[in-house]
Amino acid sequence: MEYTVKSGSPEKQRIGCVVVAVYATRKLSPSAKILDEISGGVISNLVRRGEMEGDLGQTLLLHNLENTLCDRVLLVGCGKEKDITTQNFRKANQAMVKRLQASGATEIASYLTEAPVKRRNITWKIGQSIEAIDECLYQFNQLKTDTNLPRRPLRKFIFSVSGRGQLTDGEIAVRNSMAVSTGIKLSKDLANLPGNICTPAYLAKQATTLQEQYPKIKTTVLDEEDMEKLGMGSLLAVSRGSREAGKLIIIEYMAGDEKQDPIVLVGKGVTFDSGGISLKPGASMDEMKFDMCGAASVLGTISACAELQLPMNIVCIIPTVENMPGGKAIKPGDIVTSMSGKTIEILNTDAEGRLILCDALTFAEKYNPDVVIDIATLTGACVVALGSHPAGLLGNHSPLIHNLLNAGEKSGDRCWELPLWDDYQEELHSNFADIANIGGKGAGTITAACFLSRFTKKYHWAHLDIAGVAWKSGHHKGATGRPVSLLMQYILDRYEESKQSS
Ligand code: BES
Ligand code: MN
Ligand code: ZN
Repeated sequence: MEYTVKSGSPEKQRIGCVVVAVYATRKLSPSAKILDEISGGVISNLVRRGEMEGDLGQTLLLHNLENTLCDRVLLVGCGKEKDITTQNFRKANQAMVKRLQASGATEIASYLTEAPVKRRNITWKIGQSIEAIDECLYQFNQLKTDTNLPRRPLRKFIFSVSGRGQLTDGEIAVRNSMAVSTGIKLSKDLANLPGNICTPAYLAKQATTLQEQYPKIKTTVLDEEDMEKLGMGSLLAVSRGSREAGKLIIIEYMAGDEKQDPIVLVGKGVTFDSGGISLKPGASMDEMKFDMCGAASVLGTISACAELQLPMNIVCIIPTVENMPGGKAIKPGDIVTSMSGKTIEILNTDAEGRLILCDALTFAEKYNPDVVIDIATLTGACVVALGSHPAGLLGNHSPLIHNLLNAGEKSGDRCWELPLWDDYQEELHSNFADIANIGGKGAGTITAACFLSRFTKKYHWAHLDIAGVAWKSGHHKGATGRPVSLLMQYILDRYEESKQSS
């Protein structure tokens, strides 16, 4: 999709469609008013007759409005003018796209950027529009032989800004958001691929491709022998049950000041989670191909950073395995030694995410990280606790938690903190090893994070449990690309902060 910004009056746009907002109840936005006046009251008449109330998501397409240069005008309901939230602003944009797809328009001028969203400026609104539009238009067709593509697809969006003074800000927003959006797409594509294609080796190959694409990226792939030498007994224990070899992928993007310690992102890359010997029930097991969404989000994020040539130091570590019940698979009761030296009693082979993450988290120490954030589809309990709106967030450093919560609010890709109190730690008691890999019945997301916290004592760390947000089930099953947007917002915020302090 092509995106640009422009300032100018709606009636002067020689284009396929001009999109303007209507608020509830029946209140015209400034651009809608201009079009109304110039066309002799057509819009206000329709609104008065009840054709358009301005409710969120409502649309009305008009043709050949008098004294305008555009072919169509699309009215989009944005709900009450006073409470346009992030989520509502996105919904309005998506309603716009859905209606436009069913029209013949290919080039669009959107004036929805006029809509007032509390505490948000034009940069933000353009960014959110781009993400919402790309989300709406995303399709995963790689593995279909028969795809019905639209005959006249949308080609270009021009976002209106209120004056020439906003053009530069608008252009920066377009550049940033297009990079984020490309990262989201990469993340979705990888996650939507099935387990027989997207194996640990496949992820490693994709990471190596990034190195060819971006000169500042350096990719290293450790194989099982390398990991053996490092003492990663926990990661290797999970990998043993599969014919596919496990890997540790390391991607370094060091474009920042060399004195700046890196932000380290660790992404869970279980390319298929059968549960292992603690086999999962059959229903929906196919969705466990999404158990590498943490890895996918980390790859999407670092490629967006590289695309923007952001002067920051970022390291991604991806432990990737397939969790299978092969003849050599770990069994409940097995005890393994992690890279940290701690022994782990594996009481449930389906709690494999933490077993591969703990070695990756120990490995992260060598980067002397500024912060470490791990991203993982770690627990079904997180879906029970929070559903599919926010990711679960836990960690050992409150400024980091605070920054992530803020980045989530701003990007609309939200997370919500759960307590990581010491009270929960005793759940991980083992009679035979230093630590057990599962806790008791309750608070599964927290006890999983408690397990990880034993391996993150040497640095500032946060954990995002994305089990509820990384993909959608049901008829529209598919990866969401979350939390690339959150991570990029966090990194961009950190970049702004570093500019101010230097
Ligand atoms: N990948 C799953 C978590 C998961 C389950 C995410 C369902 C999304 C939907 C993880 O490896 C897992 O199996 N966790 C277990 C932990 C339990 C054995 C302590 C779970 O959540 O059931
Ligand atoms: Mn599992
Ligand atoms: Zn898993």
